[in-house]
Amino acid sequence: MRTVTVELGARGYPILLGRGASTGAAGLAALRDVVGGRRCLLVADRTVGALHAAGWRQALLAAGAAGCERTEFPAGEGSKTLATLAELYGVAARAGLDRSGVAVALGGGVTGDLTGFFAATWMRGIPFVQAPTSLLALVDSSVGGKTGVDLPEGKNLVGAFHQPRLVVGDLAWLDTLPEGELRNGLAEVVKYGAGLEAAFFADLERDAAALLARDPVVVERVVARCCEIKAAVVAEDERECEGGRRALLNYGHTFGHALETLTGYAGFRHGEAVAVGMVLAASLAVRLGLCPAEVVPRTTALLHRFGLPTRLPADPALTPDAMLEVMGRDKKTRAGGLRLVLPTALGATALVAVTDVAAVRATLEVARGKP
Ligand SMILES: NC(=O)c1ccc[n+]([C@@H]2O[C@H](COP(=O)([O-])OP(=O)(O)OC[C@H]3O[C@@H](n4cnc5c(N)ncnc54)[C@H](O)[C@@H]3O)[C@@H](O)[C@H]2O)c1
Ligand SMILES: [Zn+2]
Repeated sequence: MRTVTVELGARGYPILLGRGASTGAAGLAALRDVVGGRRCLLVADRTVGALHAAGWRQALLAAGAAGCERTEFPAGEGSKTLATLAELYGVAARAGLDRSGVAVALGGGVTGDLTGFFAATWMRGIPFVQAPTSLLALVDSSVGGKTGVDLPEGKNLVGAFHQPRLVVGDLAWLDTLPEGELRNGLAEVVKYGAGLEAAFFADLERDAAALLARDPVVVERVVARCCEIKAAVVAEDERECEGGRRALLNYGHTFGHALETLTGYAGFRHGEAVAVGMVLAASLAVRLGLCPAEVVPRTTALLHRFGLPTRLPADPALTPDAMLEVMGRDKKTRAGGLRLVLPTALGATALVAVTDVAAVRATLEVARGKP
């Protein structure tokens, strides 16, 4: 087992990673510091709840929790809503969970974001523990304190920064993760290498087969490296300030979100959309003369090895005009042009104000409808 620390002063916390992290002595000791003598509300979706909640609840009780209420909701992004949040408030109220309680999220990013936002707002804020069970949650959503829910008008529109007290990533939970969800998380893994650290990208090129085969040593090393990279970015720029590094974690995401929006969140998993988005961003950067040409084939090749798409499908809804229109609404856009995270080399990115709309259009056109 290893520990990665998110250095945020009084709001800092450890991320425990490894097979058996939730049941081993070190895990239980760290858990005791947070839940000892306190009542817990354990939140999971039904899929993860059926697989892992009973064992995790036992661990919470073994760590000295004074009680542990369980609640579950239907799996999927469709549950990351105000309605599910209202149900959590109801469960907490009926259970008499007060300010000494602890919320515990067991699951993927949906459970983590929802439970985190519950914890940020219940009784004006109670502590919470993240127990990520998807690769995406392990490497991304459980670290950094962004919590929230979706509205019918858009994703993640309501939220709060609320850092967890502890993240427990028991990598044995990944054994039950479906293949498609593994690939979904691998897109974010590639993002850390391609966007922030060339040496890690090279490690991924070397370890791709072992990672896909879920080799435990490689999985632990890769997850830990991702958490270290994200923890360092978050420590520098906790709240995604103007000009801060946290925005760079959105590499591939502006193009990706447009793709998700235009396909009604049905055509692509988030990670698949981000994979296409990184290739589009890299292609645009090359076209603008901002980065060396090799970035595109190397990024594409690694994404292919992970079974991820790298092209826009020949969908009539995905015209360059439609993509540009949605991208213009992106949170990072400011009056006067697009602001995109673009690579400047393999493993390096910058937030760039792009005024050459023709270049974006040409990039989108070239990427369309090819295999
Ligand atoms: N807070 C952040 O910083 C941040 C960062 C990235 C993404 N997100 C959010 O994360 C969400 C996506 O996360 P996700 O991909 O984990 O989605 P998810 O929580 O819906 O999980 C994906 C699917 O995998 C299943 N699953 C998870 N772990 C499993 C396991 N161990 N065994 C079997 N099945 C398992 C779930 O039941 C679900 O069906 C989005 O809502 C996104 O906005 C948040
Ligand atoms: Zn993402």
